[in-house]
Amino acid sequence: MKIRLENIVKRFDDNTAVNDFSAEIESGELVTLLGPSGCGKSTMLNMLSGILYPTEGKIYFDDDDVTYMSSEKRGIGLVFQNYALYPHMTVLENICFPLEIKRVPKKERIERAKKMAELVHVEGMLNRKPGQLSGGQQQRVAIARALVKEPRLLLLDEPLSNLDARLRIEMREEIRRIQLETGVTTIFVTHDQEEAMSISDHIILMKLGVLQQYDKPQYLYDQPANCFVADFLGNPPINKVEGVVEGGKVILNTGEDSLVRVENVPDGTKVYLSFRAESVILDNKSPLKAKVVMTSVMGKEVITSFVLGGKEVRGYMNSDAELERDQEIGISFKKTGVFVFDYESGERYL
Ligand SMILES: Nc1ncnc2c1ncn2[C@@H]1O[C@H](COP(=O)(O)OP(=O)(O)OP(=O)(O)O)[C@@H](O)[C@H]1O
Ligand SMILES: [Mg+2]
Repeated sequence: MKIRLENIVKRFDDNTAVNDFSAEIESGELVTLLGPSGCGKSTMLNMLSGILYPTEGKIYFDDDDVTYMSSEKRGIGLVFQNYALYPHMTVLENICFPLEIKRVPKKERIERAKKMAELVHVEGMLNRKPGQLSGGQQQRVAIARALVKEPRLLLLDEPLSNLDARLRIEMREEIRRIQLETGVTTIFVTHDQEEAMSISDHIILMKLGVLQQYDKPQYLYDQPANCFVADFLGNPPINKVEGVVEGGKVILNTGEDSLVRVENVPDGTKVYLSFRAESVILDNKSPLKAKVVMTSVMGKEVITSFVLGGKEVRGYMNSDAELERDQEIGISFKKTGVFVFDYESGERYL
């Protein structure tokens, strides 16, 4: 099912939690709502589920206006951070429960619940109570319970936040597998950019209730719409050095020419030169000099910290040279992963 959000606004008294939010979500996709705490992700999800109604704007499921439709009529499946399973019921009874409410005959209920249990790989624990399951297993049951009604839309609000790091990675892959197997249109909320990057067809990145960019994960990373997007995505975080534009050149605050050029930006404009660690080239012929702070091995990569433009930054440098502390090196940049943003507004110039 396709979803269309048109100019959604949600106000709580004088606090605008979501502001003029428009987006279309294609049928069968997994789209992630990503952004820092308080940016309006849950509020948006709750409007999609019918737990909240927007102050302004419209929500369409295919061509139906569902803006003020009750939750029960929307045909959605919901999964939250806390598994919210019924503790006194077995796994099988938990998964069956939504069908019981819909008065599906018992035999069919059990058949469908068992099929869902297989899909999420909990078929071996149907008679256990939630208290006898691990966090990951409980979340699998919660997903099965959300899917058993064959919803048109699956909504997941930080479903992995209570799990430890390793289990989070396992479960996010499981969510993607289950979503692809069922083909259900899914909206997934998280504040974890790696989680979002790894499982989404598209990501919607939000800040203070406003949509910043809606694109494929790699595109957000390669072509950030503004400084906030560039800062939010990537590990290690993107490097940022302050500078000013003079005659189309980005001059660092320490007075050096960064060798990065911009067009049509007035002289004197304060900017950030932002660059990814993988976009740094060790280039001793370059007039742009930096000073090594340290090198560290991170798994199979070697990352070098160095001071450039008065700031400590990091780069993966393709180097057999053993770099030493305080050594002067020459730096240049690749064409990709290097951006110039307005210092105040975050608008992108390069
Ligand atoms: N019922 C409410 N009444 C008043 N303000 C609310 C209510 N629900 C949310 N807000 C406010 O709306 C804004 C968005 O909240 P929301 O819960 O959507 O954020 P979030 O992105 O889900 O954050 P988190 O990652 O912490 O879950 C916040 O400023 C929050 O304080
Ligand atoms: Mg939330």
